[in-house]
Amino acid sequence: MSTEWNAGYVTDVNYTFGYYGELNPLRCRLPLLMIGRHAPRIENACELGFGQGLSVSIHAAAQPGVNWYGTDFNPSQAAFASEMVRLSGAEAKLYDEAFSEFCGRQDLPDFDFIGLHGIWTWISDSNRGVLVDFIRRKLRPGGVLYISYNTLPGWSASAPLRHLMKRHADVMGSPGQGIIAQTDAALGFIDQFLALEPGYAKANPGAVERLKQIKGQDRKYLAHEYMNRDWNPMYFADIENWLSEAKVGFASSAHTLDNLYELNMTPAQTEFMRGVPDISLRETVRDYCVNQQFRRDYWIRGVRALVGHEQIAALREERVVLTVGKADLPTKVRGVLGEAGLLDNIYQPIYELLLDHKPHTVLELETHLASKGVPFSQLSSALNILFGLGVVQPAAPAQDYSKAKARCLAFNKAIARRSLSVGDIVYFASPVTGGGVQAQRFSQLFWLGKQNGGKTAADWAGFAWSVLKGQNQNIIKDGATLQGDDNLTELTSQAEAWGEKTLPIWTALGI
Ligand SMILES: C[S@@+](CC[C@H](N)C(=O)[O-])C[C@H]1O[C@@H](n2cnc3c(N)ncnc32)[C@H](O)[C@@H]1O
Repeated sequence: MSTEWNAGYVTDVNYTFGYYGELNPLRCRLPLLMIGRHAPRIENACELGFGQGLSVSIHAAAQPGVNWYGTDFNPSQAAFASEMVRLSGAEAKLYDEAFSEFCGRQDLPDFDFIGLHGIWTWISDSNRGVLVDFIRRKLRPGGVLYISYNTLPGWSASAPLRHLMKRHADVMGSPGQGIIAQTDAALGFIDQFLALEPGYAKANPGAVERLKQIKGQDRKYLAHEYMNRDWNPMYFADIENWLSEAKVGFASSAHTLDNLYELNMTPAQTEFMRGVPDISLRETVRDYCVNQQFRRDYWIRGVRALVGHEQIAALREERVVLTVGKADLPTKVRGVLGEAGLLDNIYQPIYELLLDHKPHTVLELETHLASKGVPFSQLSSALNILFGLGVVQPAAPAQDYSKAKARCLAFNKAIARRSLSVGDIVYFASPVTGGGVQAQRFSQLFWLGKQNGGKTAADWAGFAWSVLKGQNQNIIKDGATLQGDDNLTELTSQAEAWGEKTLPIWTALGI
């Protein structure tokens, strides 16, 4: 479909239902505080290009204290997002306006947080100008910008694959064919071509592997990633140049593991990096060291350093919660260079305290660890790692809890009801973390079975099987389609595991 309003952006197929914790304003606090930067309290937040709006609708439901605004010019996506907000009882103001329209609205407040995920690379320079102007006018001093983008040099070897895909679609694709068929045809063309060992493939041996990887990805995602008119990966300095107009400065990667040089670089590279005095050049050198393909960063309007005790005092007040069970507690961490073990004497006492899955302040952790002889500095670096692994998450403010709980329950019921037919949304909202929690289709069905009064694993499995059976759906296990009662047996064993492992954590997370 060719339209005027889409500015060359793919709108024939809707985007996938992704959830991105980086867009949770609550989540930016720990990475910023841990790297020694002030983090704002967030009252007004805005998401630009929210896609299906799963992130924004989860955040609106789970954090009643935050006023959400946002836009995505795809009307069916904006309608879905607004519907989810309405069903949860939250009040976000979501629009289907183009950036140029939305950013000119006169009824928007100033924002403490503006997030854009998967947008910057795929829009025109003129739209980039619109966004930068918006951030300059509407992000409060001290406010945080979260932005992600395809990065150079990581994309330099495979950018030609995208070019060829898009060229093939532009030249050979017909409008009636649809974007998914065009994507498939382009992939087939490149596949055939690379088998002929062109000079490009010889000079970039990773390209064939990359194509294999691309071929395995969701077609809707691929259409949005590769088939837009605009697609511009950037070096760190390029984006810095753009964003300096908005008066924001680089604060930190949103992924705390990125900040652990030793995990991602050799000792010689680390020493080299530490010798680079300029933060911008240092980030660039880092991108070369790890061949970064996608950056996810926090920028601040007026970056301010927390000095010594200020940092420790601010960190002590933060509340965190453990979101995995005992069986899934990490014992190692993986970086670009390989794995490192997590020391029992530091991590076991942390797990000991957090295993009740209740929110605890960093001060409580500090006190508990001090009694075991573990100093604050070791706690702080362990939190960096556990947060980076996603097993420890921030806890939402306690005063909003009952409102958030009611909204999350309504939101999760709406998601689970969709799961009666399809399994394309795999997240629930938690009033405890203020964010999304992974919830696959069968888990959602077991949960719904429980909501409907089911007491045992057999009840939950029976409910799930009645849903699947009613739609002539069978479970595929190890590549084979299960028949008849084998489905119920399999579901019962999955429901037992869910009741043992997942349910206690979901209950603690207010789900
Ligand atoms: C790659 S998707 C990312 C969606 C979402 N942020 C996510 O990560 O799931 C980009 C989104 O930006 C929206 N978009 C692109 N150009 C836009 C514009 N000029 N104005 C408003 N929305 C736009 C598209 O409709 C699409 O949903």
